Amino acid sequence: MSTTNVAVDLALRMEAVRKVYRVGDSEIVALDHADLTVAPGEIVALVGPSGSGKTTLCSIAGGILSATSGRVVVGGTDISDFSSKELTAFRQSTVGFVFQSVNLVPFLTARENLLVVDELGRRTGSAARKRADAILGELGIADRANNLPSQLSGGQRQRVAIGRALMNEPRLVLFDEPTSALDTKLGEQVMTVIRNEMKNRGIAAIVVTHDERNTRYCDRTVHIVDGRLEGTSSH
Ligand SMILES: Nc1ncnc2c1ncn2[C@@H]1O[C@H](COP(=O)(O)OP(=O)(O)O)[C@@H](O)[C@H]1O
Ligand SMILES: [Mg+2]
Repeated sequence: MSTTNVAVDLALRMEAVRKVYRVGDSEIVALDHADLTVAPGEIVALVGPSGSGKTTLCSIAGGILSATSGRVVVGGTDISDFSSKELTAFRQSTVGFVFQSVNLVPFLTARENLLVVDELGRRTGSAARKRADAILGELGIADRANNLPSQLSGGQRQRVAIGRALMNEPRLVLFDEPTSALDTKLGEQVMTVIRNEMKNRGIAAIVVTHDERNTRYCDRTVHIVDGRLEGTSSH
């Protein structure tokens, strides 16, 4: 893995990132000239209409997708030229994802859904279980550790997903529309949990949202239109 000294303090640095999807003979430019930096512990809201490139940006920042061109540096590691195998290892050690559709494993309990991450990572056995239970406790769902996702409310499921994203002590967590499936009140609760967890741990985050009300839980808002990032505002 290569490291660059300049970016070592940043959670994320994207420079001139371009992403082109090829579908048959046509090309879709999903992201163009995207420059974005996220400081350690900073929470950035990413707001834009459907199809503007928000999920693509998160996928590239988290090493799920490779950029067509440009540089992507996460926590000081330049992942721009990583192979898919290197990206997989990088994701497991450095980033967390929380998606709109929660994607919990339906036949595993809340605790087991956190431990799944760990089997791919470094902790094993009782240490992992202890960490999973501590995280579930912080998220206020310790008493739900043995419940299956189907036995949890939408807000509780989203908390399990947040807990899972924290298991590997990431540098950066990418939240892709984490509240869009929740009602207003639950959405606010989940945003509060997100803000508290990130700030207490000093973890940086990008929160994709359609809902301007969610931006007040973030430090800064970046708008995206047609694959281009536009003026940022600090809160
Ligand atoms: N795998 C893909 N193949 C082809 N086009 C895609 C793919 N994923 C996304 N796109 C297109 O790229 C653009 C940006 O998509 P996306 O990043 O999902 O936007 P958002 O998350 O803001 O709704 C859209 O025009 C979408 O149709
Ligand atoms: Mg999307």
